[in-house]
Amino acid sequence: MAAGKQQKGLDDDLRSHLRAATMAAHDLLDHAMQEASGWQQREDYARFLELQHAARAPIEDWLDAHAPDGLNPPHQTPLIAHDLAALGRPAPEPAPMFTIGRTGAGHALGAAWVLAGSALGNRSIAKQVRRIGGGAWPMAFLGDDAMLGFWQALRSRIEQHPGTDEAEGATDAATAVFAHFLALAEKAQTAEAVA
Ligand code: HEM
Repeated sequence: MAAGKQQKGLDDDLRSHLRAATMAAHDLLDHAMQEASGWQQREDYARFLELQHAARAPIEDWLDAHAPDGLNPPHQTPLIAHDLAALGRPAPEPAPMFTIGRTGAGHALGAAWVLAGSALGNRSIAKQVRRIGGGAWPMAFLGDDAMLGFWQALRSRIEQHPGTDEAEGATDAATAVFAHFLALAEKAQTAEAVA
């Protein structure tokens, strides 16, 4: 890569760049998760939480191993396990290991953005779940304030113009995390269609 390109960076801030780069993947994931389970019934909500737990567990492990201080979001799998237990379900087997090869600039930032940014979507899902479940369904995961706190802190890192290397690494990692979630959601969607 030319040195000039490395120094130039992006026209957008990193958050706008990541949102644009993963918009199609997010739409596919949203659709697949609604098809695989949704949250209209208590059973659906339990399957939604199982998918979230299975998908997040290896990414949390990856971030534990690779993220520097300040870029490792709070773990949410214990909250999801708590909600599942309240619904009478054990935590599922984690998805196979998540990896993006040799770790480089921006990778932890991109993976952290996906997990933390999903707390924004969770806020709108929480409103629906509270209404549908009449306030009786467990919502430790969807109502997690610690992740929203992490998100606020992360904003100062991602609402800036990054260098090219960091932007490319963050985009690769974010894309890989979305692909990881999507693979599981599509598997669950197929299982649901067969059932
Ligand atoms: C049915 C599932 C999902 C729905 C309905 C949904 C919905 C949403 C909504 C409404 C927003 C915009 C929120 C706002 O701007 O206030 C959002 C943002 C986002 N969601 Fe999701 N989401 C879903 C699943 C996921 C999952 C599983 C992930 C992570 C793997 C994820 C990652 C993100 C990210 C990274 C953002 C953007 C953060 C930013 O603005 O920088 N979403 N989602």
